[in-house]
Amino acid sequence: MDEPRTSWPELPDDVVALVPMRNVVLFPHLLIPIAVGRPKSIAAMQHALAAKTVLGIVLQKDPQADDPGLDGLCQVGTLASLAHHSRAEDGQIHAVCQGMQRVRILALVEGHPFLAARIERLDEPVSPSTEAQALALQLRERGVEILSMMPGVPAELAHVLQATRSPSQLADLAASLLDIEPAEKQVLLETLSTEERLTKVLQIVTQRIQVLRLSREIGERTKEQLDDRQRRFMLEAQLKTIQKELGESGGSGEEFEQLAAAIDAAKIPSDIDAQVRKELKRLERMQDGSGEASGLRTWIEWMTELPWAPPAALSIDIATARATLEADHFGLERVKRRIVEFLAVKKLNPLGRAPILCFVGPPGVGKTSLGQSVARAIGRPFARISLGGVHDEAEIRGHRRTYIGAMPGNIVQALRKAGARDGVMMLDEVDKMSASLHGDPSAALLEVLDPEQNSSFRDNYLGVPFDLSRMVFIATANVIDNIPLPVRDRMEVIDLPGYTLEEKLQIARRYLERRQRETCGLRDDQCELTDAALSAIAASYTREAGVRQLEREIGRVMRAAAMQIAEGSATQVRIDEGDLEAVLGPPTMEHEVALRVGLPGVATGLAWTAVGGDILFIEATRVSGNGRLILTGQLGDVMKESAQAALTLLKASAPQLGLAAGDFEHVDVHVHVPAGAIPKDGPSAGVAMFVALASLFTDRPVRPEAAMTGEISLRGLVLPVGGIKEKVLAAQRAGLHQVLLPARNRKDLHDVPASTREAMHFVWLDTVDDALKAALGERVGRHGHGFALV
Ligand SMILES: Nc1ncnc2c1ncn2[C@@H]1O[C@H](COP(=O)(O)OP(=O)(O)O)[C@@H](O)[C@H]1O
Ligand SMILES: [Mg+2]
Repeated sequence: MDEPRTSWPELPDDVVALVPMRNVVLFPHLLIPIAVGRPKSIAAMQHALAAKTVLGIVLQKDPQADDPGLDGLCQVGTLASLAHHSRAEDGQIHAVCQGMQRVRILALVEGHPFLAARIERLDEPVSPSTEAQALALQLRERGVEILSMMPGVPAELAHVLQATRSPSQLADLAASLLDIEPAEKQVLLETLSTEERLTKVLQIVTQRIQVLRLSREIGERTKEQLDDRQRRFMLEAQLKTIQKELGESGGSGEEFEQLAAAIDAAKIPSDIDAQVRKELKRLERMQDGSGEASGLRTWIEWMTELPWAPPAALSIDIATARATLEADHFGLERVKRRIVEFLAVKKLNPLGRAPILCFVGPPGVGKTSLGQSVARAIGRPFARISLGGVHDEAEIRGHRRTYIGAMPGNIVQALRKAGARDGVMMLDEVDKMSASLHGDPSAALLEVLDPEQNSSFRDNYLGVPFDLSRMVFIATANVIDNIPLPVRDRMEVIDLPGYTLEEKLQIARRYLERRQRETCGLRDDQCELTDAALSAIAASYTREAGVRQLEREIGRVMRAAAMQIAEGSATQVRIDEGDLEAVLGPPTMEHEVALRVGLPGVATGLAWTAVGGDILFIEATRVSGNGRLILTGQLGDVMKESAQAALTLLKASAPQLGLAAGDFEHVDVHVHVPAGAIPKDGPSAGVAMFVALASLFTDRPVRPEAAMTGEISLRGLVLPVGGIKEKVLAAQRAGLHQVLLPARNRKDLHDVPASTREAMHFVWLDTVDDALKAALGERVGRHGHGFALV
């Protein structure tokens, strides 16, 4: 490097050249490498080298500041001597500094090309106190422990720790090794009392050990990462400690008073109250800031925040309740009537065992929002627990307090949110939880729902009983079959099968449109959606039993209108059917049926799935081969068997259909059911498979407006199937007017809304002949006149 200039005057004894550091804290007796690039800092180094003297290393408060003044520097820094130095190509000086002694910076001294400051040397106590020695002993042990837990730490480090005898030096050594922020290190540098400094370092080290242990424990136990909850807990605990050290939180006396006041206000039952107060005493005795103390404090807070107070008598006004339900939801008459009955019973016998209602139906039919409406109807708070994806009993019932990062389960969390124990609690998507290694959540749920047990529901975290008996529970599910049987047994199922097009339009007009308009900040007169446009959105851009997609599409249209108005290109927007394509793109659903069902070999079946009814195409084709039946489209075993039965049945009835036995030789038949990625199963596509095959071999297309469902027997009988209501609604949504159903399902027709029954044409099937006649037309039969297969 350049020869340092020697002409600078020597500084007085109590003045040193300062090098401000953006993010490095140097402790006495320790070595650190630094790199300096700012001109004043380089000048300071050059001075120190030339004068063979020490300089001051000090942290600047704002790491971004380029030329900090006295206010921008921390008050305490470290005197250092330069051990090595070299000049890098970019002009920076790289040096190794040896820390010597803490100094307090008193004032800046002007007149130098570098920062110079008047300082006060802060001497260390000569002989350490007994307390300091005891703390140092503990720190040495913990230090060795933490080093042993960290991968890739040089072994010498442990020896250095062991060999450092001075408690003050030991604290500084540990502080410099810790992976904490520079600002936190500075706090340690400024802590002049050895005992205090040791205590702070020990706390940080102890917490690090807990984190390491925990992560190792968890890593070993489940090979999973710290889950969010635990990570947040550890971070919060650290934060609290740091805040305390920085003096941010109020005095702890004040804190205990607040907790005690919260306990007074919480109206906890007396035996539990005594337990909480005992724990508060224990907390007062604990060392502040330890992980255990913060865990205990959190527990006490939870206890004070739960709605323990006995609820007032529930006053239900049936007329108001009915009016509220009516106002919130269109249609659903049967469901609303059942809810009102339920409330009437609750009113007359508030303490009796009311059944637990379970709304079952496809997504977007209003199950969750009905629950909210029930709460509104009786003027009580609503809390929702989502059970979708829950597979750990602890998620419902909590973890024991001894488990690090423990929290109450979601029942107790919902209770706190509701702030009352006589509100409405919705157990959403009960069909989506499952048992796992971590226990069966449905066992915990049973306890919640059982009137014998739920007056003393025990959350593992709280560890004390809580009375849930006044809570109104409402469950929801997409598919009843997926609800664990014991849970299902406790519930009264209310079906919500899905909406007809007409109902959807009403819902859209009364609710969805208004809501979306408000979301976009549009006034009623600014945007008009015509009837034709609305029906086109529902029919050509959505295919669902509920109204979620419909609401989303309406939202897109409204946003486009809002855009035009905001830009000033229009003051009123009228959206008609013809405008939709520009906003929503080409229709996604139109003509699907027409497109597919134009050729022989394709039939439209009806399926019943978790998302409601839907149409389903069965495609059959033949290629030259040797009589194989190829089945694709992720078909389950039962569905495959029904395809085989359909083919056998067709072969058996070949003569009546005017087909020759030779027609089946030297061909492979391929049956495919799109969409290929979705698994399908069940026997109810039998009729459609038979019709598709018959259409293929007789070379006659299936009537495009016909949809069909039904199981077939090898003798040609059509057997009843499930989900009639949902399937009929799906056919109607898809724009099909004729539905072929098993005659033995006739009794299920009364579930279908009257408007749909009137709009559709039903054909009742006793045998597959009936299906052929309706689907392929009379002309198929001209060769054989009737297919007397039975
Ligand atoms: N009959 C109805 N009347 C008014 N709004 C409805 C009706 N059915 C559904 N909705 C609305 O549709 C949206 C989706 O309903 P949601 O309760 O989330 O369905 P689910 O829980 O059954 O999946 C909600 O905003 C709801 O208010
Ligand atoms: Mg829902």
